[in-house]
Formats: sequence, C-alpha cells, structure tokens
Amino acid sequence: RRLKNFFVITVVGLGTYYGYRSYRRYRWFNDMSDFDKTSGTKPRVVVLGTGWAAVPLLKHIDTQKYEVVCVSPRNYFLMTPLLPSVSVGTVETRTVIESIRSLIGPRVKFIESHCINVDPKAKIITCISDGEQTVARGDNVKAVIAPSGRTDGASSRIIKDSARVRPEFQMKYDILVVAIGSENNTFNTPGVEEHAHFLKELLDARRIRSAISDAFESAMTPTQTVEERKRLLHFVIVGGGPTGVEFAAELADLVREDLQTYFPRLVANDVKITLIEALDHILSMMDKQISDYTERHFHRENIDVLMNTFVKEVKQREVIIQLKDSNELKSLPCSVVVWATGIKARSLTNKLREIIGLNIQSNRMGLLTDQYLRVKGIDDGSIFALGDCATIQTPKLVDRIQSLFEEADTEHRSALDLQQFRTLVEKKITEFPQLEIFSKSVEKAFTEADKEKSGYLTLAALRSTLEKADHKIRALPATAQVASQEGRYVADLLNQLTDTQLNHFEQQNLKPFRYKHMGSLAYVGGDEAVVDFTGSKPLLDIFKLKPMSGRSAAYLWKSFYLTEMFTGRTKTLLAFDWVRTHVFGRDISRY
Ligand code: NAI
Repeated sequence: RRLKNFFVITVVGLGTYYGYRSYRRYRWFNDMSDFDKTSGTKPRVVVLGTGWAAVPLLKHIDTQKYEVVCVSPRNYFLMTPLLPSVSVGTVETRTVIESIRSLIGPRVKFIESHCINVDPKAKIITCISDGEQTVARGDNVKAVIAPSGRTDGASSRIIKDSARVRPEFQMKYDILVVAIGSENNTFNTPGVEEHAHFLKELLDARRIRSAISDAFESAMTPTQTVEERKRLLHFVIVGGGPTGVEFAAELADLVREDLQTYFPRLVANDVKITLIEALDHILSMMDKQISDYTERHFHRENIDVLMNTFVKEVKQREVIIQLKDSNELKSLPCSVVVWATGIKARSLTNKLREIIGLNIQSNRMGLLTDQYLRVKGIDDGSIFALGDCATIQTPKLVDRIQSLFEEADTEHRSALDLQQFRTLVEKKITEFPQLEIFSKSVEKAFTEADKEKSGYLTLAALRSTLEKADHKIRALPATAQVASQEGRYVADLLNQLTDTQLNHFEQQNLKPFRYKHMGSLAYVGGDEAVVDFTGSKPLLDIFKLKPMSGRSAAYLWKSFYLTEMFTGRTKTLLAFDWVRTHVFGRDISRY
C-alpha cells in the first residue's frame, strides 16, 4: 500500500511538473510575438553568434520590446565542455547539440549565415552564406571547405547544391551584439593547420574519433613494422590547459576501458599518450595543488607529461619539440596530434577593431568594452561585445592599488606591512572584483615585490611588479561561465532600458557588469575530476570549500554538466550516454 501511494504521488508529481513546463513552453512559443508579425515596429537587436554568450541573451531578451534577429553560421548551440567526451565516443554527437530554433522559438528570427562586415556608421551588417569555397565532387554534390580550415562548424560538409542557396544580404540594426567567440591559436606554428586536429567544433571531435579508430585498424595490418606500429599508436596532445588535459584523460579512459579488450597486445606494447606543455606545470590557471594532483594522476594513468617543452613544428608523421633553455630539436614520431594551445580573435573581431581604430581597440585578444559591455570607440553605444571575442577594460588595477596604498600610508613612509595592505584590500573588495579572481597573481606580485622579505612593501616595488602582471590581471578568463553571465547581463540590461539612449547608462541607474566566479572544473580521467574554487567568494566564504580532486569531484563534474544542459532532451541523452558507456562500452567503429 505504501509503495502504491509512493508510486501514485511520484507519477502525479512528475505529471504536474512536466505538464506545467510544457504549458509554459507552449505559452512562451505562441504568446510571444512571432517575429514576422511585428517586424519593423520595434528597435531591432541583431545578435551575432549561437554560443555560450548569445544563447542566454536570446532566451532572456524581451521580444515584446525588441525585434530580435540572430545571425550565425551554426544553427545549433554546442555544449563545448563535452567535446573531449565526444571525441572518444563516451558521449554521442547529438547529445551535445541543441537546435537554436528549439531554444529560441519563432519569437526570434534566426538566419544561418556568416557576418563578414559591420558598418558602425550606417549601422548595417553584411552577411554571406558561409564564407566558403566549393569544390566539385561528383555530379551535383559538393564538398565545402571553409578557408579558415577546421575551425568553423560549417567546414567540409557534403551538401546538395539545390538546397543550399544563400545570397549575400545586408541588414540594418539599432543595437548589435557581437558574440562570435574565438578561433584556435596556432601561434603560426608550421604544419598545425595541415596536420593537427583542433578540438573546438563538433566536426573536430568527430574527426578525432575516426582518426583514433583509423590508427588502431592500421596498426592491425599484418605487414606493419614494429616501428610503424608504435608511431601509429602514439597520440600527442599539445597544450596542458583544460582542453588538452580533458582530452588526454578521455583518451586514456578509452584505451583502458575499451581498446584494451579489443586490442590487448597493442595496448600492452605499443600505445602511448603524450601531453606536451610549454610551461612548468599543466592546468596552470588552477590552484598549484590541483596541477600537482593532475600530474601525479596522469602518471598513474600512463599519460606521459612533457613539461617545459615547446612544439616547434607539426609534420605529417611527427612533431618537432624543443626543451626550454635548449637549442636542441627532437622528433616524436606519432599519428594523431591534437592541438589545444588556446584561442585568438576571429577575423571579424579584428576587422571591427580596425574599423574603430587600433589606437582605441588596442587589445589583440578581442574587442575592448566598458563596464556595461559596450564596445569602446562606438560613440552612440550601439554595439555590445561579449564572450570570448570581448575584453572588459577596467581601470588599471595598479592605479587602484596605488590609491589604496596612499590612503593607508598616512604617514607617507611609502612602505606598508603586507598584512596591513591585505586588510585594507579585504575591506575594499567590492571595488576590486578582479582581486578576488586573480588573487593568485596578486599574491605572487606581492611576494615578488617584497624581495627582501622585510615584511614591508614599497609602493615603487609593488607598482613595478604589478605593471607586468596587470595585463593578465585585467582580462576575465575566456570561459563559458563568463560568456553566459555576460549574455544574461546584456539581456537584463536591454530589458531595463527606459529609452534607447544607449550612452546614458550611468544616469539610468543601471548596474555595470560584475562577474561571479563559481569555480573551475576539469575531468582528469579514471572517473576522477578536479575542482578549484579559488576566487569564488560565496562558496569559499560560506562553505569553506577547498580545492577538490578525485571521485567526489567527478560526481560534482557530472552533476554540474547534467544541470547545465539546456533542455530535458539533452539532459536525458547525456544521462543515457553515460549509462550506456558504463554498461556496454564505447562504439569504436569509424563512420
Ligand atoms: P589554454 O590557453 O587554457 O592552455 C593552452 C596551453 O598550451 C598553455 O598552458 C600554454 O602554455 C600551452 N602552449 C601554448 N603553445 C604551446 C606550444 N607550442 N607547445 C606546447 N605547449 C604550448 O587553452 P585551452 O585549454 O584550449 O582553453 C581555452 C580557454 O577555454 C581557456 O580560457 C580555458 O580556461 C577555457 N576552457 C575551460 C574549460 C574548463 O573550465 N573545464 C574547458 C576547456 C576550455
């Protein structure tokens, strides 16, 4: 009887919950004005992009108030943190994407296109279908290759000509939101574009999955020499940031959990995974404890980590490396090379910087914005930039610190006791949001400044070290967390505007953007993860959270991504994929 009651309550509860959600979704889709019904009657907001910054904005912007148009070459949202899982088959491709149309409904007009130019004076954008060259492949089928190589989702698709007809168009905007993300940075290293895989788009992950399968099948050919087999099964990852680390971890899982069963001899004798990092530790943006833990963990997982090693060139069957402080070059024969050395600005970002003027837009990493995320140098404030393509220009940290220093140093000795200084900073922390996030760099600057270990800091010494660190300290990290908070912020900001006077925010009592760091996570393999709460003030202060590593961190990692998935469909698919991989293993066939 109890069981029956429990069952009835659960079914009724879930039924009501999902019924209510479906009703809300129905209302959301249908009651909100259909774009085409009201077109031309409201100010037009054009959003470029369908990534981490654009989607929260599109979901929350008030379409009763604005006519919203989204332009992007990718008609889906991609759950980028799960790409390493997709590249080895732990998670399937359809699980990590969500159609943009199902996320925004008909209230926003979506146009699948590539914005190639912005005219801020006339307030017009120019778009083309994909920005691709087409290469004949058979009668009416063409392979499309993006000039930017593998960085764009649209590259190398086989398409039917008759369906893909997208003439160039121009569109006027009242407000433009640039949320176009970033692209892979190769640092102009020779051979990377041609021979290495990136891990930024879905297609990259699919290519890597096929390449791993190819390497094992090639190694099984009876005529292969031992040397060639070893080369085929040597996988190299360049870059010890979170992307490189997570991919290495997933690859080691694939080898241990699945490939070992199917290729026991190859795994025992020939498989090798090497992670190459130019700095002296991996995951350098996280707490030192976490870097050390990950290095020890990788050692147990048979992943070779080469630190202080720089990749100079990638060739078809080898990478050329150079050790720090040595002129000697060494060759590592290998097959699959994954390049994860960070990101750089896209060409449209740079074009816009040039149009505005490089004297104002002086940061090569992206578009400089003010505290309200409005692009610097656009007088009427009609262009916003967010996510990876933007950098907020905050007052120089070093200048703020100097003012604090002067305030504290009432006796004009120009030297402060470190503790005294910290107490002062602690009090003023609300004026110093960057201090929380970059506390590690600031602490380092303190220690470096206080070389004589006298316990006192002179203003001059502190200033000179902070000047060097200032560039790093001022930029927010290029993460999904920053991008989505910025997207949500701009939606709320635009919804609150009483008029479209975009350059009078201060008078309208609007709050500037303030980033709330909730910690960083990374999967390190073997059902373990690492979590760093540095800079995450409420979590650190209230719950006294310390860096976490191991299985508990992996549960946190999994629950976090499960809740982060945008819809019930992808949440269900992800849960199923994890269970399927656990019970039946990964599908290792190439397709
Ligand atoms: P990254 O910039 O974080 O790390 C790249 C690493 O490559 C650096 O440690 C650098 O020293 C190294 N490197 C550069 N050139 C090299 C060379 N020639 N040879 C050897 N090593 C070289 O890049 P990543 O991992 O692609 O991440 C990009 C952004 O996305 C970052 O802001 C990151 O924080 C974020 N991200 C965060 C994730 C998370 O929080 N779980 C997951 C993935 C990305």
